[in-house]
Amino acid sequence: MTEPVLKAQGLCVDRGGRRVLDDVTFSIDQGDVFALLGGNGAGKSTALLTFLGFIPPVHGEAFVRGLNVQQDVQAIRSQAAYLPESVSLYSHLSARENLQYFLSLSGVERTADEIERGLDEVRLAAEARSRHLSSYSKGMRQKVAIALAVLRRAPLLLLDEPTSGLDPVAIDEFHTILTSLSESGTTVFMVTHDVYGACHVAKRVALLQQGRMVGQFQAGDGLQISAEEVHQTFTQYQSS
Ligand SMILES: Nc1ncnc2c1ncn2[C@@H]1O[C@H](COP(=O)(O)OP(=O)(O)OP(=O)(O)O)[C@@H](O)[C@H]1O
Ligand SMILES: [Mg+2]
Repeated sequence: MTEPVLKAQGLCVDRGGRRVLDDVTFSIDQGDVFALLGGNGAGKSTALLTFLGFIPPVHGEAFVRGLNVQQDVQAIRSQAAYLPESVSLYSHLSARENLQYFLSLSGVERTADEIERGLDEVRLAAEARSRHLSSYSKGMRQKVAIALAVLRRAPLLLLDEPTSGLDPVAIDEFHTILTSLSESGTTVFMVTHDVYGACHVAKRVALLQQGRMVGQFQAGDGLQISAEEVHQTFTQYQSS
């Protein structure tokens, strides 16, 4: 058995004097897409921030490739590309200029050709690439953010509500990009409200309800996770 890329072991996290993650345990293998589902306030974003080393757990541990995040915060920050819910890029710069700028900030050198290939990979329309981001839709902006992760060759993507506010076509495109990244070995940890999208794209889905893990689902060989089953469990806990 190879070591999981990410592992939460009995994670308990307090915020504002309240327990917001309570004994959360899961692991994510290399190249898997893992979706953490839950309602508003369930603790999804907190889980991502804990893995990034921004919030220390009060009990339990978060590991990245066997390294404890609290003890070695660089281990995850050097490997992970984190996309918060609202992607922060410069609207007065074009896609190409944003990528050049943010790559150089991360100390990564990429040629103009490589940047074009990154934008090809996320299928950003060629005609848009030199336009300022102020004229972009949300889906287009998100493609630029994913291109940045691709060009950094980040082996791990941490995504907070990546499909919120995207139309169905943009969601499908986004899922295609995620699937192709995962096929090439990128590990994806996404948090979302979107049961159907999560089941479509993820190999494993976990349900979080008020900080507690209340269900985990795994796709069978060549099969998707049953969205109906997850939805039922989700609504059952939401209404209880
Ligand atoms: N900065 C903060 N200080 C204190 N409490 C916080 C803070 N941020 C979040 N919380 C609390 O932690 C709990 C979990 O919040 P979190 O943002 O992780 O939920 P979420 O599942 O991401 O919700 P959403 O779907 O609305 O994004 C909530 O009860 C929230 O009120
Ligand atoms: Mg959140």
